[in-house]
Amino acid sequence: MQKITVLGAGTMGHGIAQNYALAGFSVALYDLKTEYLSKALSLINTNLTLLVQEERIDSARKEEALNRITVTTDLKEAVGDTDFITETIIEVLDAKHQLYRQLDELVPEEVIIASNTSTFSLEQLTKSMKNSKRFIITHFFNPAQLVPLVEIVKRDETPEKVVDQTVALMKKIGKEPVVLQRDIPGFIANRLQAALVREAFHLLEEGVADAKSIDLALTAGPGFRWAFIGPLETADYGGLDIWKSVVENLAPELSQAEKVPSFINEKISQGKLGTKAGEGIYNYSETLVEKALEKRDRNFIRLGEIKGK
Ligand SMILES: NC(=O)c1ccc[n+]([C@@H]2O[C@H](COP(=O)([O-])OP(=O)(O)OC[C@H]3O[C@@H](n4cnc5c(N)ncnc54)[C@H](O)[C@@H]3O)[C@@H](O)[C@H]2O)c1
Repeated sequence: MQKITVLGAGTMGHGIAQNYALAGFSVALYDLKTEYLSKALSLINTNLTLLVQEERIDSARKEEALNRITVTTDLKEAVGDTDFITETIIEVLDAKHQLYRQLDELVPEEVIIASNTSTFSLEQLTKSMKNSKRFIITHFFNPAQLVPLVEIVKRDETPEKVVDQTVALMKKIGKEPVVLQRDIPGFIANRLQAALVREAFHLLEEGVADAKSIDLALTAGPGFRWAFIGPLETADYGGLDIWKSVVENLAPELSQAEKVPSFINEKISQGKLGTKAGEGIYNYSETLVEKALEKRDRNFIRLGEIKGK
């Protein structure tokens, strides 16, 4: 494989394109408007500068990676001679279907089309596609240029070759692919996260501690070890007899809510959506958000170095 096409240059698309370019692939990055593509290139430039500052790459490698990315609003040009397509446009099923129908006409059937969807099943995505066997899900995590995980979702009909080539490609760009044996909503990582966030909302609503304390209890505790030891290995270290009691005693105490608590809905109705609105559970000024994001990315780069990524 030499040329990779990334369709959609938003929050995820720019980071995914960066991964491919840094690994030596020519990348065609496609979006609907040139201004979105310019913004994506500027973000990639900033991300790569951070990697240079953190001494993960040198300036020459940064320039090489930037030079490997071409941007276009012409779909035909974006997919011409491509070897692999990552689709990461908006999470609207009709929009994805419309795009796939065009790809069916434009791209030879041996070219794999990998969606970065977070919520649609592979079955929903490929329904009524002429060549559904070439589709797969590669679910990157935000920020896609730094988080190693890529969840790979296949179907029974997906040929082994499509899975193997996708896994190999993800490894080549330095990612840690995890292949699911079933096409289930939320895949693995978001299910685990959702279970945890539900309990965090519940603890905050119940006034057990303030937001900072709840977050710290995780980042200084379980989160500290989770970068290296997952929950199942943790259970083995603690002893399965101990964890049997933990689950049996605590499970009835945990939130079983199927909806978010009303205080979250109130914040949403007040426009307090989080960092993008300057306020969510915490208060943020614009400069604070930028600084917080830079600090987050520097920490992720350093953690990645420790993990050998
Ligand atoms: N944001 C996340 O944390 C996250 C994490 C994992 C997966 N995802 C998934 O990744 C995908 C993209 O999410 P995002 O957060 O980057 O969204 P985004 O809104 O930041 O970016 C989407 C981009 O796609 C473009 N676009 C829309 N329709 C298009 C079309 N028909 N052709 C080409 N480009 C089109 C938009 O102009 C926009 O630039 C979604 O499927 C989402 O569910 C998002």
